[in-house]
Amino acid sequence: MQIQLETKPFRGIETDALVSYVFEEKDPVQGRIAEVDQAAAGLIKKLAAGGELTGKSLEFTLIHAPAGLKAARLLLVGAGKREQFNSATVRKIAGAALRYLKGKSVKNFAFAVREGDATVDSAQAFAEGAITANFETDKYKTDKKDRKEIEIASLAGYSDAEPMAGEKGIAKGRTIAEAQNFTRELVNEPSNKLTPRLLAERAQAMANQSGLAVEILDEKKIAELKMGALLSVAQGGPEPPRMIVVTYSPANPKPGGPVIGLVGKAVTFDTGGISIKPADGMEKMKYDMAGGATMLGVMRALAALKPNVKVICVVPATENMPGGTAQKPGDIQTAMSGKTIEVLNTDAEGRLILADGVHYAKQLGATHLIDAATLTGAIVVALANVNVGVFGSDQAFTDKLLASAKVTGEKMWQMPIDDEYREFIKGSFADIQNIGSGKGGGAITGAMFIKEFTGDSPWIHLDIAGTAWSDDAKPWLAKGPTGVALRTLVHLVLSY
Ligand code: BES
Ligand code: ZN
Ligand code: ZN
Repeated sequence: MQIQLETKPFRGIETDALVSYVFEEKDPVQGRIAEVDQAAAGLIKKLAAGGELTGKSLEFTLIHAPAGLKAARLLLVGAGKREQFNSATVRKIAGAALRYLKGKSVKNFAFAVREGDATVDSAQAFAEGAITANFETDKYKTDKKDRKEIEIASLAGYSDAEPMAGEKGIAKGRTIAEAQNFTRELVNEPSNKLTPRLLAERAQAMANQSGLAVEILDEKKIAELKMGALLSVAQGGPEPPRMIVVTYSPANPKPGGPVIGLVGKAVTFDTGGISIKPADGMEKMKYDMAGGATMLGVMRALAALKPNVKVICVVPATENMPGGTAQKPGDIQTAMSGKTIEVLNTDAEGRLILADGVHYAKQLGATHLIDAATLTGAIVVALANVNVGVFGSDQAFTDKLLASAKVTGEKMWQMPIDDEYREFIKGSFADIQNIGSGKGGGAITGAMFIKEFTGDSPWIHLDIAGTAWSDDAKPWLAKGPTGVALRTLVHLVLSY
């Protein structure tokens, strides 16, 4: 799909569909839409008067052969209340319009921003919305003859804007959205097509193409470095683990500046191990590597956007299998940090591999840590599939991330990590244990476990178990992998 700027005035744009938006207010036919309405002999006003066009969020009004326009169709999308309108709305309605038109076999469309909305941010949001909406999960379907394709998505309404605003926004949005789709592509892979070794190969290829430094630690190197927590999870099956390290170094780093460590859980399949999961729904555990895929996607975007801060990405990758060599409940493991862990439940494996991941990131020089993980079913109980669970040891750092989430339209909600919760993971026979003792607060317990390995570095944990995968399609996104948290993390790093 090509994304481009269209400089002609609305009436003269030759396209399969001219798309714009209306607000939910007394008279939704105003400004540029009123101008279009005049050309169309008052048809839009009539639809509004009849109650068919209200501006309610994601309401679609499709007009064929609109009078006074060169376009074959006019699509008006409801943008909701004007006061709540921002670039997140643009992203959503641009994506929803693309999927709506694609469903009708339309090949190209022009999205026209309204008066005053021709900003860099709108253009970025348009590109992000369109490119992420265009992503499909049909890679393994052999019969693609009914596949519909949008060929060109144009952005209009920028002729009076600062020159380059449109181009600049589109370029940035394209970089970020393509990175998000890269993440989603990885998350969509079934575990037989994406083992830890294959994930490492994909990371290596991405790093080489993007000009990032990459190092893949194999099982021998992982053992030499005494990453006992990661190894304990990997020992349950024949697939060897990998520790993936991708590094971005700015051209002129600030001496003494922060080094951001991004650590992502990549369990390419989580059976639960000996504490095995129920069969029903287990197939979804192919997305248990979404945290790792997210961090790799962030690196891909950063390589192009070139922030002035060093970023080290560490992705521990393994399967969690219940083979004859698997670890068993009660086994005691020694993490890379030297801490001993009593593994009371082999299904709480994400925190084990992250223990070695965050410790290694620190050893490599990270001063600020962020991990992303599909860590707990408990976060789904707490926040459903709406908000990412955010846990932070440093409020200023956490506030910075929450602000980035707001700007990029990703829903995140902070959870507590008071000292009282430390009790939950106090060990009986080892330093710590990997699950709590049945007192609830499962997502917090998982976070407290990871915190043990972060020392006094500012640290944020993102539990994306409820949000990395969507069981139903959204008007602006296919069902399946969402690529959540990538945009927030890219924005956060760029803010340094
Ligand atoms: N990968 C799961 C968490 C998960 C659950 C991800 C649902 C996506 C959707 C994780 O490894 C796990 O099994 N966690 C256990 C922890 C428990 C044993 C303390 C859980 O949440 O049940
Ligand atoms: Zn598990
Ligand atoms: Zn897991």
